[in-house]
Amino acid sequence: MPKLKLITYGCQANELDSERIAGLLAQEGYELIEREEEADLILLNTCAIREKAEQKVYSRLGTFQLLKRRKKGLRIGICGCVAQQEGQALLNRFPYLDFVVGPGQLTSIPKLLDTPAKRGIATARAPGFSYPSIAPVQRRSGIKAWVSIMEGCDRFCTFCVVPFTRGRERSRPSQDIIEEIRNLERQGYREVTLLGQTVNSYGKKLRPPTSFVELLRKIDHIVDGAVRVRFTSPHPANVTEELAEAIAGLPSLCEHIHLPVQSGSDEILRRMKRGYGRDEYLEKVALLRAKAPGLAISTDIIVGFPGETEEDFQDTLGLMRTVGYDGAFMFKYSPRPHTPALEMSAQVPEEIKGRRLEQALALLNQLSLERNRAYLGRTVEVLVDREDAKGDHARLAGRTRQNKIVHFFGGGVVDGDLVSVEICGASPLHLQGELVSSQASARRGKGFDNPAAPIYDSPNRRGEG
Ligand code: 5AD
Ligand code: SF4
Repeated sequence: MPKLKLITYGCQANELDSERIAGLLAQEGYELIEREEEADLILLNTCAIREKAEQKVYSRLGTFQLLKRRKKGLRIGICGCVAQQEGQALLNRFPYLDFVVGPGQLTSIPKLLDTPAKRGIATARAPGFSYPSIAPVQRRSGIKAWVSIMEGCDRFCTFCVVPFTRGRERSRPSQDIIEEIRNLERQGYREVTLLGQTVNSYGKKLRPPTSFVELLRKIDHIVDGAVRVRFTSPHPANVTEELAEAIAGLPSLCEHIHLPVQSGSDEILRRMKRGYGRDEYLEKVALLRAKAPGLAISTDIIVGFPGETEEDFQDTLGLMRTVGYDGAFMFKYSPRPHTPALEMSAQVPEEIKGRRLEQALALLNQLSLERNRAYLGRTVEVLVDREDAKGDHARLAGRTRQNKIVHFFGGGVVDGDLVSVEICGASPLHLQGELVSSQASARRGKGFDNPAAPIYDSPNRRGEG
């Protein structure tokens, strides 16, 4: 049986693509392994979102040169966003690289493997005019599943490489999505996360058009409370009252939204071409909180975008305080090929970016700790998954519906159980608790955390947020 070492960088879409690659190559007889020294095929599924992510790929690739010299017949391929972005240039730069495959061409991998003597390339010339054919998925987890509902992006934020690497926005027919989720439910999956670059603009181009909320309602109906449903990442401009009501009302839908803001300054948002201003974003947050008061909100923030002044940055910190985020991914702006921001004047020096990032992280720690402390003494629903213990597999762990990681003590539970845990400790990134009851198959959902209980207060809501 040939052996495959698969290395994944980047976002959830890439994680899912790797599961598709594993499924596709399992059909060709490949077995997934951990140790690259034993591999017959090494695939790097790559990310181009920031320069650092891209550099990581090159340095890892460099370490395979020796391996390739030692082991005759070893083949090395690059997939994903760096593959799409760099194409032939990768084959030129790395003579020991066998093939390059863009994120929309994964199903070409078996064909490329069939011609060992030739170096191959399969990338989209005009990226993204058809939905990528869905390979069979070999999932890492038996509890949580990613489900792609749309691919690509039409927004072209001025810092972002995604529209160039993953192509234009296209949605998957809703029947296919429903069918996949029905099967996941039958197989015993307890949570699905719907994936798309701007997931809540789903369905616009379908014939007949289907809205994201219609899709959520259909999914809620078929999973009937047995599966938690999440989605990522929505775009603020497409957050509607209907969506807020769906989050508040559909039992399967979890009370967490990851709503990337990127900046709190109107001028920077305009230069980023985000399609909303500070007030509009805060109105969306207020709408969500009014309908679903217990909602946890996380975000993405970029510091040091070209032209960002100290005042702009202070606006971002102010917005973070106003919203009172539960969590955030924060990044220093990184110039990317093809993107308009690369050419913009007033690039911010690295030291200033670094200092701003540190400041923003310190504030986030404060805010998320405050949010997490609000759970002290409360009992919450936890989906047990030792993956959330990050390496310490002796420890019980899982996530609440608000996507908080909980480490807890107790016994008699296994991964995939829905249990109740009383929270007795809080840090910025985790909650700690004790098992209260472990009815593995009880149907819980919205009623369980009790929307009327103070847990649904928003302790950090300040000002207009
Ligand atoms: N530099 C820094 N961060 C970026 N992101 C996207 N492009 C860049 C870039 N050029 C961040 C955004 C996005 C997240 C997935 O990555 O915050 O929401
Ligand atoms: Fe990139 Fe903007 Fe599209 Fe998000 S919405 S994928 S940041 S271009």
